[in-house]
Amino acid sequence: MENTQLVQIAKEFGSPVYVYDAHKIESQYKRLTGAFKSVKQLKINYAVKALSNISILKLFKSLGAGIDTVSIQEVQLGLAAGFSAEQIIFTPNGVSLDEIEKAAKLGVQINIDNLSILEQFGTKHPTTPVCIRINPHVMAGGNSNISVGHIDSKFGISIHQIPHLLRIVENTKMRINGIHMHTGSDILDIDVFLYASEILFETAKQFKDLEFIDFGSGFKVPYKVGDIETNIEELGKKLSAKFNSFCKSYGKDLTLAFEPGKFLVSEAGHFLTKVNAVKQTTSTVFAQVDSGFNHLVRPMFYGSHHDIDNISNPKGRERFYSVVGYICETDTFGNNRRINEINEGDILRFKNAGAYCFSMASNYNSRYRPAEVLWYNNKAHLVRKRETFDDIIKNQIEVDFSVKKEKASSI
Ligand SMILES: Cc1ncc(COP(=O)(O)O)c(C=O)c1O
Repeated sequence: MENTQLVQIAKEFGSPVYVYDAHKIESQYKRLTGAFKSVKQLKINYAVKALSNISILKLFKSLGAGIDTVSIQEVQLGLAAGFSAEQIIFTPNGVSLDEIEKAAKLGVQINIDNLSILEQFGTKHPTTPVCIRINPHVMAGGNSNISVGHIDSKFGISIHQIPHLLRIVENTKMRINGIHMHTGSDILDIDVFLYASEILFETAKQFKDLEFIDFGSGFKVPYKVGDIETNIEELGKKLSAKFNSFCKSYGKDLTLAFEPGKFLVSEAGHFLTKVNAVKQTTSTVFAQVDSGFNHLVRPMFYGSHHDIDNISNPKGRERFYSVVGYICETDTFGNNRRINEINEGDILRFKNAGAYCFSMASNYNSRYRPAEVLWYNNKAHLVRKRETFDDIIKNQIEVDFSVKKEKASSI
């Protein structure tokens, strides 16, 4: 998107505001499907958790995607967006059997990553096909908080527990129709995917009723100009060849599934904030914006990088700034950044603001969550209103402290 369009959106809808470029989402989707075009049956299930606005979900539906969900509420959101139950996979971790049963009742594909839950579910619902999430014990991902396929991780069923898993399947007579893995996020090295895929193929051989193999996601996107990213085209070529040859030996054309979040929406997002104050200290020049980690937690949460530029003064002289928020803890978005000269009232744009940004926003400090705008067909569509004070107060219930105190009793 052009700077001028973004500045106009900030003027029209106020700040802070998240802006998503539908055309970029579409081009990433097509890039991914294009990379795997030699696979007969490909399914891209967009990971709703990355950005769950219903208009974004509807956009993915119009592109032909399915969705990957991790909570019953995401399942409900997907159904509300018009996805049929068959287009939804439910991949939770650490949820109750009750929640899994609710999702199964809605008809979505269940993915289980825990032997105890698998045994209970299989005993009660032997006719419901289930996908199993395998932990291949691969250390992958850009940060320990987003590396989930290693031996100490809470995710997945260990490959060393396959004999136990097979016993549960045999005893309950349940049907395993899919095998799944997701080893982490921000995985640069395609050899990690290829290595883990071998483990998955080995595991898959032991299940006779498979319909799909789901390779999860974790593709790394560029965060800076010239930054390296997962080579999707090369991965497409290599993994497709391996997958096609596995299908031959398996004797059936299975569906190859992915569930990307970041790859599809990260770069499409722009977060626009207004500079409240420029503050010169003895060591630093701070640009203090009308936002904080309540709206964009990733830099403070796991050190993610978001390029920041001054779209109000793109030709100004470059100076060094630390960009910080207004939260009453340290909330640094970027230290010592080279940015075109900043004046109070300027609009700063944070890049890569599509994935895990709004969806992780909170009301900390009793601030409102921002508005969201979708840029589609050369037009800005408001897809979520900025919150108001009513949103902050509406679920709170006041106690009447004017009522005379009863004799104190302990709980
Ligand atoms: C099970 C599962 N699938 C898919 C994703 C999406 O990963 P990414 O956003 O890196 O594509 C995640 C992210 O946490 C996940 O946990």
